[in-house]
Amino acid sequence: MTELRIAVLGVGMMGAFHVDALTKRIRGAKVTVISDYFPEKAKEVADAIGARVVDDPIEAINDAEVDAVLIASPGAVHDVQVNACLDAGKPVLCEKPLTTDIASSRVIVEKEKSLGKELIQVGFMRRFDPEYVALHQLIVSGGLGNPLMVHCTHRNPAVPDHFNSEFMIRDSVVHEVDVTRFLLGEEIVSVQVIKGVATSAAPAGTNDPMLVVFETESGRIVTDEIYVRTGVAYEVRTEVVGEQGSATIGLDQNLQVKRTDGSWGGQITPGFVERFGQAYDIELQRWVDAAKQGTIDGPGAWDGYAAVAVCEAGVKAVRSGRKEYVQLAGIALPVEEEPIPDIRAPDLIGDRP
Ligand SMILES: NC(=O)c1ccc[n+]([C@@H]2O[C@H](COP(=O)([O-])OP(=O)(O)OC[C@H]3O[C@@H](n4cnc5c(N)ncnc54)[C@H](O)[C@@H]3O)[C@@H](O)[C@H]2O)c1
Repeated sequence: MTELRIAVLGVGMMGAFHVDALTKRIRGAKVTVISDYFPEKAKEVADAIGARVVDDPIEAINDAEVDAVLIASPGAVHDVQVNACLDAGKPVLCEKPLTTDIASSRVIVEKEKSLGKELIQVGFMRRFDPEYVALHQLIVSGGLGNPLMVHCTHRNPAVPDHFNSEFMIRDSVVHEVDVTRFLLGEEIVSVQVIKGVATSAAPAGTNDPMLVVFETESGRIVTDEIYVRTGVAYEVRTEVVGEQGSATIGLDQNLQVKRTDGSWGGQITPGFVERFGQAYDIELQRWVDAAKQGTIDGPGAWDGYAAVAVCEAGVKAVRSGRKEYVQLAGIALPVEEEPIPDIRAPDLIGDRP
């Protein structure tokens, strides 16, 4: 196969971005079919690249001129579309989330397993970002000794009002979920969400920023500051603290300028496209190359399922204010923790003056 013929489902922000990359920068790929809930949107994108519009996304998946599928529709319809790709036996790059609930993601994992080949890649592009790749290599090569803790910072300049506390977990923290699993090579078993003072830029009832704490299978702690209305820029940092050193990525130190007026500084990437543009291109190129061989080259269905399970626990933790355990197949849930007995002297118990 010289050119992989691709159907893109959903050409909103991400889908249109991927179509542009597949058309201009990715080798060996051709977008042949576009499908979107709004046919006029699909037509506009399709006309610009000489592709066909197929209104029904399932028909688009099964189209004879389609070898592989890129899903960039809203998460709520991923379940149906990914299942249709499996039924058609076509490789698929599905933007996160794999689905929007644990049960349907699990069914997809099992269904793919029963086919005996990996067809589903999930769009966790940070795994292709050169800085994350270097950090991962440093860890697996033993360069930091045993990794003990990870500290993440995820800040956006601004987001629409529908980014409430729960959406911040599902849409933003989900990337740190995958980063944690990628860097440490183990599952996350619990999530706690600590809510502090909210920025006045947040709508009423939204806790922005929040501190999210993951605990992994081996007991490592990961913290993630999620703050999506900073008004500043797009800042994503990750620090891994090991027994023999620590390493940080995302420090915006690539270009520091000193000026004649005595000021110095650099530029922070304004948005996620500027920060992760290269990662998306690498992700797409590797997916295209693998899909031609009928397989994937990146995070798969299990990774998508695990991320959904952790985010479910995260949403529960936002609501309960407690540590919530991740319901993931093969991961034992801990025995309910005993409450800590109050050992203060009786006269110290009671209201503070
Ligand atoms: N990997 C990342 O960094 C990243 C970043 C942003 C968004 N995403 C993910 O990409 C997906 C799309 O996000 P977006 O920001 O582009 O959203 P968007 O709302 O801009 O675009 C979604 C598009 O899908 C279309 N659509 C709706 N129902 C459809 C259906 N049944 N079939 C086909 N198309 C349909 C909509 O009309 C719209 O054009 C989401 O799953 C989102 O979580 C990933």
